[in-house]
Amino acid sequence: MLQGKSIVLGVSGGIAVYKAVELLRLLTKAGADVHVIMTKNAQEFVAPLTFQTLSGHPVHTGLFSLSQEQEIDHISLADRADLFILAPATANLVGKIAQGLADDLLTTSVMATKAPVLIVPAMNNNMYENLIYQRNQKFLSDSGYFILEPIKGTLACGWEGQGKLPDPTVIFAAAESLLTPKDLIGCRILVTAGPTREEIDPARYISNYSSGKMGFAVAAAAQQRGAQVVLIAGPTNLTVPVGVRCVPIFSAEEMRSAVYDNLKGVDVVIKAAAVADYRPVDRSTQKMKKTADKLTLELEKNPDILAELGQQKEDRILVGFAAETERLLVHAAEKLQKKNLDLIVANDITREGAGFNVDTNIVRFLHANGRVEELELMSKAKVAQQLLNRVAVLWKAK
Ligand code: CTP
Repeated sequence: MLQGKSIVLGVSGGIAVYKAVELLRLLTKAGADVHVIMTKNAQEFVAPLTFQTLSGHPVHTGLFSLSQEQEIDHISLADRADLFILAPATANLVGKIAQGLADDLLTTSVMATKAPVLIVPAMNNNMYENLIYQRNQKFLSDSGYFILEPIKGTLACGWEGQGKLPDPTVIFAAAESLLTPKDLIGCRILVTAGPTREEIDPARYISNYSSGKMGFAVAAAAQQRGAQVVLIAGPTNLTVPVGVRCVPIFSAEEMRSAVYDNLKGVDVVIKAAAVADYRPVDRSTQKMKKTADKLTLELEKNPDILAELGQQKEDRILVGFAAETERLLVHAAEKLQKKNLDLIVANDITREGAGFNVDTNIVRFLHANGRVEELELMSKAKVAQQLLNRVAVLWKAK
């Protein structure tokens, strides 16, 4: 979403300036062309050289700097930006913008831009709660500026309260969201992700290598495109995407219950989870001791959640995943048909760059009408976007 986008990152003075460095890194890594404007105070915390090195552009600091104005003046910077991000935004910066003051390069550029402006305040919690500050922030929010609220925690001044800059990944996601076309507004999507765990005893379980990355990427992208998303997730190390409601589960049976509990009103089900096909017939309540030389575990079949949904499809769109090690298209086509799906995403997990625990995937889309699309190696975030492009078409056709 950020590839080739022109972003102005405005940095004002506060201890959280170091987090803006990490944010810049995330933005440039995603392909954005970032120009940094620093206020005078911001430069007391981190030297402009750090931002210059990471952005690949000179850092803009002064309104009347001749060399900077020759290279790119502040009006054209404001004019060609797709997005402004002010992080951290101090109480002073928010106050100045709210009062229409433009007495330095950053405030002048913000006033001159027609691009969306994402303001990410960070300050002492008492300052944040101050009525004058709150009035300024509300005025900006009512005037169409986007505010990403600070989070609660221990502040640099040692106080506890709301005032901390959110994690750079959260700011990054908010920026991505602002630049994403909202073609899924009104669409309710249920996504499942990650592995399930089938308990043997209180210390052991049967599971698989699924990391949950694909399903989480789908949930994040769908949310950014305006969908209302519920994510039913097995155990993973991933952070729940902002704006997504997550229902954590362990076993396949818990996943099944959670799916049915959240199915009402859902337009699209995307089952990216790697559900364990079998579970132990008996779960020992005590930790099993290693007495015998050999041990046989008796397993029974788990419910096939997607196949069940396929039998009571109503007007829901059903998307499955097929992770295979051989005869990819044959197995995937069988699942598509047997489970009554609209689309299945097939991947060969033996191929380099595809499958579990990596950030990329190589997939094919098999459609109910027999059409097969072959995609090249790409990030799971991009696969998610490609998948949602197809889902959007199916949903709009309903
Ligand atoms: N699935 C499910 N419930 C199960 C097993 C699978 O909902 N008990 C869903 C998965 O989430 C996925 C699709 O069905 O979207 C295909 O899963 P997969 O494990 O590839 O196929 P299976 O049907 O389990 O067949 P097999 O394990 O024999 O390949």
